[in-house]
Amino acid sequence: MMKHKSYTVAAIGCTGHITELFLKEFSKQPINLRVLARKPAQFLERYPNVEIVEGSMLNVNDLQKVLQGVDAAFVVTPMGTRNNKTPEVEAAKCVIEAAKAANLKHFIYVSVLGTDKPRGLSIFDAKYDIEKLLAESGLGWTAIRCGSYMEDVFDPRLSAIKKGVFLFPVKKSSRFTYTPQADIPHFVVEELINSNRILNCGFNFVSKGTYSIREIEQLLSQIRGKRVKATGSFPLLCILILLMPYFIASNHRFSTIVPLLRYFNKYGYIDDVKTVSELFPSFKITSLEEHLQKVLK
Ligand SMILES: NC(=O)c1ccc[n+]([C@@H]2O[C@H](COP(=O)([O-])OP(=O)(O)OC[C@H]3O[C@@H](n4cnc5c(N)ncnc54)[C@H](OP(=O)(O)O)[C@@H]3O)[C@@H](O)[C@H]2O)c1
Repeated sequence: MMKHKSYTVAAIGCTGHITELFLKEFSKQPINLRVLARKPAQFLERYPNVEIVEGSMLNVNDLQKVLQGVDAAFVVTPMGTRNNKTPEVEAAKCVIEAAKAANLKHFIYVSVLGTDKPRGLSIFDAKYDIEKLLAESGLGWTAIRCGSYMEDVFDPRLSAIKKGVFLFPVKKSSRFTYTPQADIPHFVVEELINSNRILNCGFNFVSKGTYSIREIEQLLSQIRGKRVKATGSFPLLCILILLMPYFIASNHRFSTIVPLLRYFNKYGYIDDVKTVSELFPSFKITSLEEHLQKVLK
């Protein structure tokens, strides 16, 4: 491997259920990694070679400590409940304020596809607002816009897939674009940090191709060697919609996820722009076929 200057990257918002995969993959990279964590003990144990700074991403002083002297910050904002974008945007405002105070060189933000306009869904609209804030901030920034994470859509459903069922409450004609989440830290280090590249815009970090749920059924069946049938939207999505008053009253994360599933059911999740392979030809991104072959073997 080529020897690079040892860069320091701050990882913010990477200690959650979905986002810890970023932390795991960054910890394998030839960089100094500094991580902000509200509860550091478990991460100190799991990542003994990583610098863990105790603090919250809602506290500007904590953020300034973690951002001081780093070459770049890799930032994920936590999803709000009840389809409310405010907590996510407020968290980003805190990080932007601290980044300005710490003279941060490069703010790398994990965004989503389709941030060209507001769509009435907090998960998307928060990222639309945050990318605008970044563009106006005067900071150097790059937004990595993701499709559906392969690791989030398929990996938790593997035991059902191995029994022939793909549990996904969306109609079979809906078409999706996928992102290998684990590739993102490798891309960030190789193509942005080591190459000293700041894009000052967003771009789509997605694998080649889009897949309808029907095509996913075929792909899973082919890799499993036996038929895999997707559940489709009925009756699962209807049941989830009926449970919305409960999700809202209990402030459950499904109060944001169910509106997202309804959107997916109607529009799928596609965006007609260039993929990573077109923009960064030297970067080898994992295809959906490769990911599924690896996890189902
Ligand atoms: N593209 C996709 O397929 C996909 C799938 C799922 C999620 N996402 C995106 O991933 C992002 C994270 O999703 P998530 O929220 O479900 O992730 P998560 O994995 O629960 O992570 C949330 C992170 O934010 C921190 N956090 C949460 N609430 C906080 C608070 N009140 N104060 C300070 N820190 C707080 C957590 O820290 P602690 O560990 O200390 O709690 C954790 O580091 C969202 O932007 C979401 O849109 C994308």
